[in-house]
Amino acid sequence: MDALVSLSKRRGFIFQSSEIYGGAGSCWDYGPLGVELKQNIKRVWWRDYVQRRPDMMGLDASILMHPTVWKASGHVDNFTDPMVDCLECRRRFRADKVDETPWVHYCPATKGNKFTISAGEPCSHCGVTRTLCPECGKGELTPPRQFNLMFKTFMGPVEEDASLTYLRPETAQGIFVNFDNVLQSMRRKLPFGIAQIGKAFRNEITPGNFIFRTREFEQMEIEFFVNPLETVDGRPADEYWHERWIEDSMAWFRRYGLSEENLRLREHAADELAHYAKRTADIEYHFPIGWSELMGIANRTDFDLKQHAKFSGKALTYFDEERKEHVVPYVIEPSAGVDRALLAFLADAYREEEVRGEKRVVLRLHPELAPLKVAVLPLLKKREDIVRTAHAIRDELSKDWTVVYDDTAAIGRLYRRQDEVGTPYCVTVDVQTVGDPAKGEIGDRKVTIRDRDSMEQIRVPLDQLGPLFRELFGGATWGGVAGRFGAN
Ligand code: GAP
Repeated sequence: MDALVSLSKRRGFIFQSSEIYGGAGSCWDYGPLGVELKQNIKRVWWRDYVQRRPDMMGLDASILMHPTVWKASGHVDNFTDPMVDCLECRRRFRADKVDETPWVHYCPATKGNKFTISAGEPCSHCGVTRTLCPECGKGELTPPRQFNLMFKTFMGPVEEDASLTYLRPETAQGIFVNFDNVLQSMRRKLPFGIAQIGKAFRNEITPGNFIFRTREFEQMEIEFFVNPLETVDGRPADEYWHERWIEDSMAWFRRYGLSEENLRLREHAADELAHYAKRTADIEYHFPIGWSELMGIANRTDFDLKQHAKFSGKALTYFDEERKEHVVPYVIEPSAGVDRALLAFLADAYREEEVRGEKRVVLRLHPELAPLKVAVLPLLKKREDIVRTAHAIRDELSKDWTVVYDDTAAIGRLYRRQDEVGTPYCVTVDVQTVGDPAKGEIGDRKVTIRDRDSMEQIRVPLDQLGPLFRELFGGATWGGVAGRFGAN
């Protein structure tokens, strides 16, 4: 994790929010390369799940909603964590996590010396287990109290209870309250899904681990509505579609680079299921902090639509033409965090390799996710014709892809810099490309293309650069195309 945090800051992926003021707790800003990576993740998700599927549509609901939404959804009453406060240092902890952290102890058997003892262990000198605050070791902890994780705010100019509302803690509710609008305006038949990408806010008591758990984050959520009266392949439609979405979601993360051995599925036990869920499975990733949730796929039954119908007084049903009756659809909800997905893609792509006795740090990101697709590098920055050609190549390629020009170091170092940020291909313009005009040479009009992963180099005519990159970014492999060109 330290290597990822350091690379992220050094190379413009992720900065601590408000850093010059000492930072804002667990808030992070995406820098020039981070924002590209994040947008690429969201773009391929939207393309794969909304644009390419005939049974899906998109939505962009507002973050601020009518406060009754959160009563209906259960968030006002149930979106809480039990927390305890230290009466001495006033720090706040999640009651169920307090014994999972190391604890500070002033040991009477050693004249009150201060020790930090591993989580759950007793003091090896006096044998006591933790009873006081794990952080300061001095204060009693209060009995657990429920703490609501929603951020409160006021709508309008008057700060009074009547105008109290919340920043949404999930994007899902924006979809449920628009179910009938989408159904009526788009004239869909079940099953169909509505997808949304957007910010969510939770006043987490124990945020941390870089962008893994933050107070402001982005979600990519789908609510997939199915007819509970139908069966598919002999199974209730909701159970069939739940299984399909679990398989699809796993395959999606694998397609964009997460390795098989770092992914697993975890079923929620009956006593762990949310109050609305019939079944939930989490896709877990082997993050640098250990196995943790990357996304959840829940069968929320008809809970949400029924709740919103009850609180709003509006019918949220679907007319089943075949059976001539109104039904409340069941909902399958694949819900992923954008930031958590980004952390997983970064962690999986990060490699430290040894090349000819030197350390090479490389991000083996999927080309579709890589923040920069191509770097154009002049071999000699003093040669005006080389520089001009390199700029012209960058200008041309940047009509289709994110391309940078860099001449701030020697070529070996420039390659390493691009490896470190995951740029799949570098194009180098050299003397051979442009020839020597003083001798009347026009050059071979070819450039060197270097592949990030194999570090192989080929010589490609200038007029074939565009078609070649179109093939490579369209899914062709380096091995499949490189053989057509001469090695450098
Ligand atoms: N609508 C269902 C829902 O919100 P969730 O399991 O609470 O379910 C879904 O959240 C996903 O959102 C998680 O799997 C995770 O990827 C992401 N997520 C949740 N809380 C987060 C936080 N505090 N920081 C970053 N990502 C978070």
